[in-house]
Amino acid sequence: MVNMKTIPSAPQFAVYVHWPFCLSKCPYCDFNSHVRHGGVDEARFLRAYESEIAQTAARIGARTVSSIFFGGGTPSLMQPSSVQTILDAIAKHWTVAPDVEVTLEANPTSVEATRFRGYRTAGVNRVSLGVQALDDGALKELGRLHTAQEALDAVAVARAIFQRYSFDLIYARPRQTLEAWAAELRRAIAEAAEHLSLYQLTIEPGTPFFGLHAAGKLTVPDDDLARDLYDLTQAVCADAGLPAYEISNHARPGAECRHNLIYWRGHEYAGIGPGAHGRLNIGSYRYATETEKRPESWLMRVEARGSGTTVDEKLTPGETADEYLLMGLRLAEGIDPQRFTALAGRTIDPNRVSFLREQGTVEMTAGGRLRVTQSGFPLLDAVVADLAA
Ligand SMILES: C[S@@+](CC[C@H](N)C(=O)[O-])C[C@H]1O[C@@H](n2cnc3c(N)ncnc32)[C@H](O)[C@@H]1O
Ligand code: SF4
Repeated sequence: MVNMKTIPSAPQFAVYVHWPFCLSKCPYCDFNSHVRHGGVDEARFLRAYESEIAQTAARIGARTVSSIFFGGGTPSLMQPSSVQTILDAIAKHWTVAPDVEVTLEANPTSVEATRFRGYRTAGVNRVSLGVQALDDGALKELGRLHTAQEALDAVAVARAIFQRYSFDLIYARPRQTLEAWAAELRRAIAEAAEHLSLYQLTIEPGTPFFGLHAAGKLTVPDDDLARDLYDLTQAVCADAGLPAYEISNHARPGAECRHNLIYWRGHEYAGIGPGAHGRLNIGSYRYATETEKRPESWLMRVEARGSGTTVDEKLTPGETADEYLLMGLRLAEGIDPQRFTALAGRTIDPNRVSFLREQGTVEMTAGGRLRVTQSGFPLLDAVVADLAA
């Protein structure tokens, strides 16, 4: 497990594998997820995942993999043998660290819980469950296919099988009160072991929720209530020994999701599968990669050329540095200003830092790191925009 007290500076490498299929589309979700009523040719997709892994490895060369993350979509719709095939392909091309973290995102239905043991046998050692709410009315409104009890049962199965598990909840939902959220969160914490992801509902363009919201048929908490809900979340979790290590992620110290930290600390990761993003360090350059989003188009592209890559951009030093700032300031540990300087070839504007420090939105730690304060976090986007400009 990663100990936040010893922030590793050695380069880390992760592999993200995107499985883009879901049983149904939740009305709030704008992730790259698709419903295929006619079924999915899993064997054909697997061959494409193997090709893309091989081609990425041929491009970047030897690496030691610290983390593998199966995200979605709904990776818990994959057969455990498919997960095994992908893990074998990764191990064939790269060295896998003995303490590798292998996470799989799972939807908490009873059907999916029956596959958990198979995933563990395949090599998964951490699951992240999309519980979303512990209230049946809210689950229905969110378009979920499970009840609160079914989700809790899946959490119990995860607890029995995996050493590490986490679950996601969405708050700041329509009509949610502070009292109701406090009770739901305390119940969730009682079920959580070491990690919780707590996301404020965002109304994403292009989703059914966006249309309903625009038509006045879906009301979410106003800014003041959303802020109170956020503050309550921080206080309740910190009290329970699950402080935020990132704006929406809480963990017992040492139990942070290593994969997430690799993104936010600006390390290297390969993105495999439809719509996956990667950041690859080749020579002295950093590349931003993206693959074709539509699963069938991605499949055909990989079958024709070995990879589904559609975007492959060499980042400038300034872009790399700004990305480090943008991602790193999401973390409670903040960023190392000297690393920013080394990347950007310039310092972060001291006048802007002074101004934000006076406003109380950022602070310097005793160790010389720059971080966003507790009261600055709800204003994170504005703070980052100010510093990166
Ligand atoms: C891409 S989903 C994959 C997880 C899995 N398919 C599931 O739904 O349980 C990852 C997480 O993003 C969060 N999420 C997705 N859309 C969101 C939105 N509009 N607002 C807040 N959280 C959202 C949910 O908590 C979800 O569990
Ligand atoms: S929230 Fe999860 S299950 Fe729902 S559509 Fe998005 S990825 Fe699929």
